Amino acid sequence: MFDAGTRCMVVVGAQWGDEGKGKLVDVLGEHADLVVRYQGGANAGHTVVIGSDHYVLHQIPSGILHPGASCIIGNGVVLDAEQLFVELDDLTARGIRLDGRLFISDRAHLVLPLHKQLDQASEKRQNIGTTGRGIGPCYEDKVGRRGLRVGNLRNLDEAAQILAARVDRANHQLHELNSDQRASFEEHVELVRRLAPRLLSLAADTGLLVHRAVKDRKRVLLEGAQGALLDVDHGTYPFVTSSNTTAGGATVGAGIGPTAIDGVLGVVKAYTTRVGNGPLPTEAEPALSERLRTVGGEFGATTGRPRRCGWFDASVVRYAARVNGLTGLAVTKLDVLDHFDTIPVGTGYKLDGGECAEMPADVEQLARVRPVYEELKGWNADTGGARKVDELPRQARAYLDRIQELSGVPIRYVSVGTRRDQIIELQ
Ligand code: IMP
Repeated sequence: MFDAGTRCMVVVGAQWGDEGKGKLVDVLGEHADLVVRYQGGANAGHTVVIGSDHYVLHQIPSGILHPGASCIIGNGVVLDAEQLFVELDDLTARGIRLDGRLFISDRAHLVLPLHKQLDQASEKRQNIGTTGRGIGPCYEDKVGRRGLRVGNLRNLDEAAQILAARVDRANHQLHELNSDQRASFEEHVELVRRLAPRLLSLAADTGLLVHRAVKDRKRVLLEGAQGALLDVDHGTYPFVTSSNTTAGGATVGAGIGPTAIDGVLGVVKAYTTRVGNGPLPTEAEPALSERLRTVGGEFGATTGRPRRCGWFDASVVRYAARVNGLTGLAVTKLDVLDHFDTIPVGTGYKLDGGECAEMPADVEQLARVRPVYEELKGWNADTGGARKVDELPRQARAYLDRIQELSGVPIRYVSVGTRRDQIIELQ
């Protein structure tokens, strides 16, 4: 992955999230000096399996499990500080050394209890299927120029003034949303006072740290959360998250310019899943969806919700390749398809009887497209032991060749199981 010309890489999800970015970043993190989370927040759940240990990281970059890597939570993240400390304490209890390895942007916005109250109350009206972690309302406050940032905690009186205005506004909003919940100013102030010393001990101008690392030709990984089709601009709006999950978000959310980035790795499952509401054109019929869900363990890492499952959708990945500028693909969970006689692959869409060559912007149109399928032969053999591409069954290689051809992006990695060693690197 890293070589003389490739020092700063973005890793993004190229479907609807849950593609296995956590595993990829963990594997690549072995060779990285710096790993940066740049958007989203505790809505993400990046699962890393090391031996018999499972780690689910919501906000801490997946690079934390490699002692040689420093980690950054960038300005683009909306940080749930209380949840972060639960994660940090859990890692410490499990023997992961953290001191001096984690820095948090003083420009990152804080997710407050009132954001979670608003998320849950507005969800009753909007029915997006959010994770309920307060992500949307916190980004609304950021863009509305009334949010509370990590750096505000350096002056707790000023923070209390921001909170007073914010709690007042939230209570009006909750009233309008017919919620019987109310935010408490005292509880918010107490929370922020309690969290401030520990949070400030980790706070830094992280954009400067990333900039210096790039300038010194260090190996930098920018770790995305969610996936391209959940991007607030490019995804299936309004059934999206509230941040830019695509590679452009990496520069803004990490605090560096686009010229610093040498490549973008898109992570895709060998099939497709989605959690939450909104269209999923290649969703499988219930029995096959259930089979993929059971074999693939397709339950949300943050909410435990069952994921909707379907077939590889080349229209989605071609689109993700375009809006992210993908330079390589990592295909994960190939082993989940090990025991199917035939495997459908969506090659394109039809809409109102005609060809639909590009991803429609309108979610109503996307809900009406009819996928065009090609049936590929299954391989009916276990792939979990393969470490080189020529150790894969012939039909599995043909499957990968076909999805590479349809996506228009070279496959660089294939993951064949949850463990660190179950990965194939292609030349
Ligand atoms: P929010 O990010 O909690 O506002 O949720 C908005 C949409 O994004 C919902 O459909 C969620 O299910 C989805 N979503 C948010 N985070 C993730 C994730 O990490 N994986 C998959 N879907 C996610």
